Amino acid sequence: MTSSTPAMPAIRVAMMPKDTNAHGTIFGGVILSYIDQAGAIAARAFGAPKVVTVSMKEVQFRQPVYVGDIVSFYTDVTRLGTTSITVKVIVQAERYREPGSSVLVTDAEVVYVGVDEQFNKVPIRRPGTA
Ligand SMILES: CC(C)(COP(=O)(O)OP(=O)(O)OC[C@H]1O[C@@H](n2cnc3c(N)ncnc32)[C@H](O)[C@@H]1OP(=O)(O)O)[C@@H](O)C(=O)NCCC(=O)NCCS
Repeated sequence: MTSSTPAMPAIRVAMMPKDTNAHGTIFGGVILSYIDQAGAIAARAFGAPKVVTVSMKEVQFRQPVYVGDIVSFYTDVTRLGTTSITVKVIVQAERYREPGSSVLVTDAEVVYVGVDEQFNKVPIRRPGTA
């Protein structure tokens, strides 16, 4: 985690058999979906009526995730642009079969853009401004 990553994850979830791939480990797309959701929760704090995902930078899976692991998605807002919010999402897994053991699964940089109800981009609100 980086120094500004909060102690509480945006999302914390136990992986289930429905989340597996053909090898029996957790499907990477499930983790990507949670990364997107976790980052969006962080990005919603900046006043836009909606946020949409515009990019997800390289995601390297460093460790597999297994059924029963509890996976935490931590977020760190790293950049505020005019209409965009960049969020680093850090993914950690607590091993079901190794209580107390936690591994870094991956991290990702996700960029969101604030949009209005018609999906036109809108300026975001910076902390301390009305
Ligand atoms: C997001 C969207 C509204 C942006 O519209 P646009 O006219 O292309 O916007 P711009 O090129 O002016 O970029 C808007 C902001 O996004 C940033 N951005 C655009 N493409 C980017 C990329 N590939 N990586 C990082 N940031 C990017 C720009 O730097 C800009 O940031 P700023 O305003 O803070 O300076 C439009 O591309 C869109 O609707 N995309 C689909 C989003 C979506 O549906 N996501 C879910 C997919 S299932």
